[in-house]
Amino acid sequence: MTAFTIRPLERSDREWVAHFLDERWGTTQIVSRGKAVYGHLLPGFMAERGGADVEEDVSEKDRQAENIGLITVHIGEKECEITTLDSLDESMGVGSALVEAVENWAQEAGIKRLWLVITNDNLEALKFWQKRGYELVSVHRNAIADARRIKPQIPITGLNGITIRDEIELEKLV
Ligand SMILES: CC(C)(COP(=O)(O)OP(=O)(O)OC[C@H]1O[C@@H](n2cnc3c(N)ncnc32)[C@H](O)[C@@H]1OP(=O)(O)O)[C@@H](O)C(=O)NCCC(=O)NCCS
Repeated sequence: MTAFTIRPLERSDREWVAHFLDERWGTTQIVSRGKAVYGHLLPGFMAERGGADVEEDVSEKDRQAENIGLITVHIGEKECEITTLDSLDESMGVGSALVEAVENWAQEAGIKRLWLVITNDNLEALKFWQKRGYELVSVHRNAIADARRIKPQIPITGLNGITIRDEIELEKLV
């Protein structure tokens, strides 16, 4: 089983985060509810394979190869949006651990509500979030038409061969 550790993002991680988001999402620009943010400027947590066991003298390139997950958040006054969540080592608990790190941080920071949107094609994510206590708030129909005005590279067909059209909003009160 993969051992990994979770740690908060630091300013020095921004280049890696930008590269990671670019590879996973095609851009560092994250659009939800008609607004865009630059994901690599957001706070969050990352998962590192091996973590404390990784030797300190490995090269930067090799060290970056050990990064296996990322969660970023956009902080509001009493609520916080989970803007991205990605795991490179699936079904090993990385995604859950990243979410737990955000939830623990949110409780300490006095955040009352965590929320996020997923697109209607992402059935796996819909399952993932609901199993972790996130409840459906609403379906923003045709929201992706607005998102495409900001980010034209959003594909027409998404996961599972489903047309990407709507944003599904979920929340968890923490
Ligand atoms: C969604 C996503 C982040 C999940 O990451 P992950 O690392 O696979 O998450 P976990 O390993 O914590 O959980 C996945 C499953 O593995 C299972 N699992 C967790 N630890 C495990 C272990 N040690 N051994 C076997 N299975 C395990 C979990 O029970 C979970 O199953 P469940 O959802 O039926 O309960 C990942 O699939 C991903 O990056 N998807 C693409 C991007 C995306 O859609 N992001 C979400 C929208 S923002």
